[in-house]
Amino acid sequence: MKTSGDTRTDLRLPGPGPHLAGGWRARGLRMLRDPAEYFMRQYRTYGEVSTWQPARPRHVFAFGAEPQRAVFTEPDVFVADAFREVKIPEGSSFHLLTNGLLRLNGDRHRRHRRLMQPTFTPRRVLSHRRAVQEVVERELGSLRVGDTLPIDQRLARIVLLIAMRSVFDIEAPDEVDRLQGLIGRLLAVAASPMTLMFPFDLPGTTMRTALRTCEEIETVLRGLIAERRPTAHDRTDMLSTMIAARDDDGAALSDDELVSEAYTAFCHDSSTATLTWALFLLDQHPQVLADLRDELSVLGGAAPDEAALDRLPLLDAVLKETMRLLPPAPMLLRYTAGETELGGVALPEKTMVFLSPYVTHRDPERFPRPLRFDPSRWEGPSPSAYEYLPFGAGAHNCVGRHFAMLEMKVVLAVLLQRFRPTLVPGTAVDRVMRVSLVPGNGLPVVLAPAGARIPPPEVSGNIRQSVDLSRL
Ligand code: HEM
Repeated sequence: MKTSGDTRTDLRLPGPGPHLAGGWRARGLRMLRDPAEYFMRQYRTYGEVSTWQPARPRHVFAFGAEPQRAVFTEPDVFVADAFREVKIPEGSSFHLLTNGLLRLNGDRHRRHRRLMQPTFTPRRVLSHRRAVQEVVERELGSLRVGDTLPIDQRLARIVLLIAMRSVFDIEAPDEVDRLQGLIGRLLAVAASPMTLMFPFDLPGTTMRTALRTCEEIETVLRGLIAERRPTAHDRTDMLSTMIAARDDDGAALSDDELVSEAYTAFCHDSSTATLTWALFLLDQHPQVLADLRDELSVLGGAAPDEAALDRLPLLDAVLKETMRLLPPAPMLLRYTAGETELGGVALPEKTMVFLSPYVTHRDPERFPRPLRFDPSRWEGPSPSAYEYLPFGAGAHNCVGRHFAMLEMKVVLAVLLQRFRPTLVPGTAVDRVMRVSLVPGNGLPVVLAPAGARIPPPEVSGNIRQSVDLSRL
């Protein structure tokens, strides 16, 4: 295990004294309720690297580009284990579905990444553009100026339908509805604090619902894998390209491995969160929205084709700036695989290390006036991989990032050429952590005609801590 000549066993990380009431479990619950601002407070009080237990660190916070670089560049020392805290019974379908890349490390992780890579290259991803466009145009086609709707729910449906087409190549309405229902049910219970605190397979528990729902999803996935196997080489859906992928020695992903990876690749919840926040921020910044509509006018009402996708810098910057201010994954987690050190301080094995793109993206040195939504900041030099990391960094960085950017660009480009969504007055916008960071009350909007000049609606809610919405 890693040791450093500079490690000091007498040094302590800053953190609260043992007298602080509640202990780490109570603090953990407070943190999970609102990790974004909890982390900001921890950072303001104790700095870049801190802990809850200065005497013997078990929970460590590594904020800022440098500590994050130290963690992400040592993937065999700081390991990922996405679901360790949820006591998922081994051998269950729930365990299998969550056994994809995000839980693997070392050689197994590298092997899976190698086999998954061909499915997610920029070129391969572009081959899904037309399918994405078809779903977006069909689903937005039923909306009319004057409609009032929870736009977050419509976006979730679009993103899910895109995933069904691109990952599984399924369109049959009954199959789509069935999977949509199952995934919706699973996401609702899997992220619930109840599942974390009461992980028992008993009647009425969220764990039981999660276990049974996963069994149904596993059955559907196994059916799809069996169906695709004979023709996988001739098909372009992601499941088929994963089935067809071969290692240098000719080895392929097994059925179990395919179930785990297909499920991970299928969860596009973060794209929905980003799109929802982008619409909120654009509504609050009418000049940026007007500039973006100007940029999109070259499309003449259509979805961007392959060439156009590269020529929409403001659309790209709006999405990047949205994920800077409101990263769907504001918190990432690693565990020490043995004794190691961070910031010159010794850490024992199994220390939980929390990282936070949300905090790092607010460094005023790197992002001046960090709470302002200002897409023009992306005209300057790009930040490093550890200063800006909405898609994570290092060995586990998001394999689906090119696909996510594609789907988000097509959705926004089509939607904003047709409508000017504006928040229903009086809506409180509170960020909450579900599977991703989302507005807790959703985003109810009225669809005004595209190009309508509407002053930004007054907004209440804790979002005002995350974004500076004061008028210039
Ligand atoms: C805006 C959209 C998205 C965001 C912000 C996002 C963010 C992330 C982040 C932060 C990680 C790293 C987690 C960690 O280090 O613990 C990650 C990993 C991953 N993402 Fe995404 N993601 C997005 C969309 C997608 C999509 C559309 C797919 C699939 C098509 C996808 C598939 C994956 C997979 C498979 C991993 C695991 C990689 C590994 O562990 O090696 N993501 N994502």
